[in-house]
Amino acid sequence: MSNNRKKFIQQLGAGLLITGFPSVASAGNFLYEEIDLKDFENDGAADDEKYWKRIAHKYYIVSKDYINLENGYYGIQPRPVLQAFYKNITHANTEGARFARKVYPELSVTIKNELANFLQVSADEIIITRNATEALNIAIQGYPFKPGDEVLINQLDYFSMIEAFRLLEKRNHIKVNAFDMPLLPVTEDEIVELYSQLITDKTRVILLTHVSNINGLIVPVAKIAAIAKQKGIDTITDSAHALGQVPFSLPALGSDFVGMNLHKWIGNPIGAGVLYIKKERIREMSVLFGDVNTAEENISKLAHFGTTPFAVTMTIPDSIAFHKLMDVEKISRRLHYLKSIWITELEKNDAVEIVTPKDMSCAIASFRVRDKKVADVADYLFKQHKVLTVNRALGKEGCIRVTPSVYTSADDIRKFTTGVKAYTG
Ligand SMILES: Cc1ncc(COP(=O)(O)O)c(C=O)c1O
Repeated sequence: MSNNRKKFIQQLGAGLLITGFPSVASAGNFLYEEIDLKDFENDGAADDEKYWKRIAHKYYIVSKDYINLENGYYGIQPRPVLQAFYKNITHANTEGARFARKVYPELSVTIKNELANFLQVSADEIIITRNATEALNIAIQGYPFKPGDEVLINQLDYFSMIEAFRLLEKRNHIKVNAFDMPLLPVTEDEIVELYSQLITDKTRVILLTHVSNINGLIVPVAKIAAIAKQKGIDTITDSAHALGQVPFSLPALGSDFVGMNLHKWIGNPIGAGVLYIKKERIREMSVLFGDVNTAEENISKLAHFGTTPFAVTMTIPDSIAFHKLMDVEKISRRLHYLKSIWITELEKNDAVEIVTPKDMSCAIASFRVRDKKVADVADYLFKQHKVLTVNRALGKEGCIRVTPSVYTSADDIRKFTTGVKAYTG
């Protein structure tokens, strides 16, 4: 056995191999068989095309029919994770109820511990949900609002969270104050200052979308949360696009309520999200799914979900293990680099309007072509250049969102810019 492989078994050991359940152990063994640690040893510099090409080639299976620059929807699972998922599906399916009743309860505790460890929080501060929407709805709808409370949101927040707050407003529980976030802020402090000005003495909660799904803007969550806290205001943070795309420490955000998912940038199979609630805040939360038996201070009171997708949850340790190997610092530098290539190229083009600040974003960035419908541009890029992007709602004109992933090459990006240049003439 090579040293690399031995080391990887040790890395996985705590999470996967000690569980003693054959399928989980074999999921770990699969990773060990397929992964060569040497592939990940070099710095993985953002512009090292050779490094990233090898990773893409060995660890990702992606369609060759088109260039996927719409990785903001969900992440392509790395091959070892996909294989672990297949094994987990087969295991849960073969063993049936015996597995669900005898094995899964204990196994799910191990998985939750691993996830909490990865997030640097305590396992009794998280619940595993099916996605970020579910996680954040539990936080938003369970929050102890009082009549007259106000909530601050903006146009770059994710529409489902806006809907959740609007629903509470419709039921006369709160008042929603919406403002327009500047699309091209120059400094983080500009955003912090804006929040300071917008807070009123009735503001109770601020919704913070850590990384916007519309234009990729990264907001300084920790700075805003600190100011809010001083004034007794809570932040509910939507880190659906932040987890795995940009490095951050969950406890250091200083936000007591954070919703995330694992199927965008962690590479887990679709159907896994996480809600973090700071321990001392759990008691005051009311439940969205009926539960009268669990203790008020136990976060499990919020997770009365019924039957869950076992295999998706079982694969979480594999996704985390692979993501750690890839290294979030390397990932985010690479994604930032790929994004910068196209922005630098297209910002020279007078017909193109970039609606993302290059230095306050990571993978995701958006643009428009002046006087053209965004849907037509996205359509043209796909039909004529086989480049998949997506148009998003943003003001009157909308925008086209471009999201590379770790398997995207600099050449892919150039094909995209060539397409835009051909369109604008
Ligand atoms: C910012 C943001 N929040 C929340 C979500 C919802 O995530 P999920 O699909 O896991 O519910 C998305 C999905 O695109 C998103 O971009």
